Amino acid sequence: MRTEGVILLTMLLGMIKWAASGLDKVGGKYGWTQNVNYTDWAVHRHFYVGDWLYYVFDKHLYSVLEVNQTNYEQCIDRDFITNITRGGRDVYQLTQARPYYFISSGGYCFHGMKLAINVEQQPLPTSPAPSSFSSAKINASPPQIGKHFITAAVVFVVTLVCSC
Ligand SMILES: *[C@@H]1O[C@H](CO)[C@@H](O)[C@H](O)[C@H]1NC(C)=O
Ligand SMILES: *[C@@H]1O[C@H](CO)[C@@H](O)[C@H](O)[C@H]1NC(C)=O
Ligand SMILES: *[C@@H]1O[C@H](CO)[C@@H](O)[C@H](O)[C@H]1NC(C)=O
Repeated sequence: MRTEGVILLTMLLGMIKWAASGLDKVGGKYGWTQNVNYTDWAVHRHFYVGDWLYYVFDKHLYSVLEVNQTNYEQCIDRDFITNITRGGRDVYQLTQARPYYFISSGGYCFHGMKLAINVEQQPLPTSPAPSSFSSAKINASPPQIGKHFITAAVVFVVTLVCSC
């Protein structure tokens, strides 16, 4: 019984790790720094409502500001929307389906520290209309399934831990 619990727990933790693709480290291994092309980084990615961006940077030099499109294009760090900068390992949740624009202040925007992404609505994971069933099945992407798994998995793990 105990062994089964441990195996289940391990499996669920594995699933959680996989499902955690809802958190994206901006710039991948480079993080948030100069001379990275964030357009290239973002181009093959999908961002959905509820996802998180994770900015890792040197807080003594750089910052993360959410700005509007004009200020993104012209690298203007006045009149920003939100200052996300905290300790240099900062997360920000994307709560709306719309374009988001981020820049660093201090002139570093001119050295590539600017990011534009388009956040999409979560596709509904409910059963599709019968006629489009097969194509919908093929198009269903693992991260979506993952995000619904995570809730169930977390609840399950919490239940397991609490019943010990
Ligand atoms: C970044 O990459 C995009 C797409 O590949 C390209 O259009 C753009 O010119 C690049 N930006 C810089 C500053 O190199
Ligand atoms: C962005 O904000 C600036 C300053 O508040 C404003 O002048 C500009 O028109 C805004 N641009 C957009 C696209 O909303
Ligand atoms: C953003 O917040 C950080 C940390 O609170 C602060 O050091 C920085 O000056 C702020 N940046 C701007 C442009 O207000």
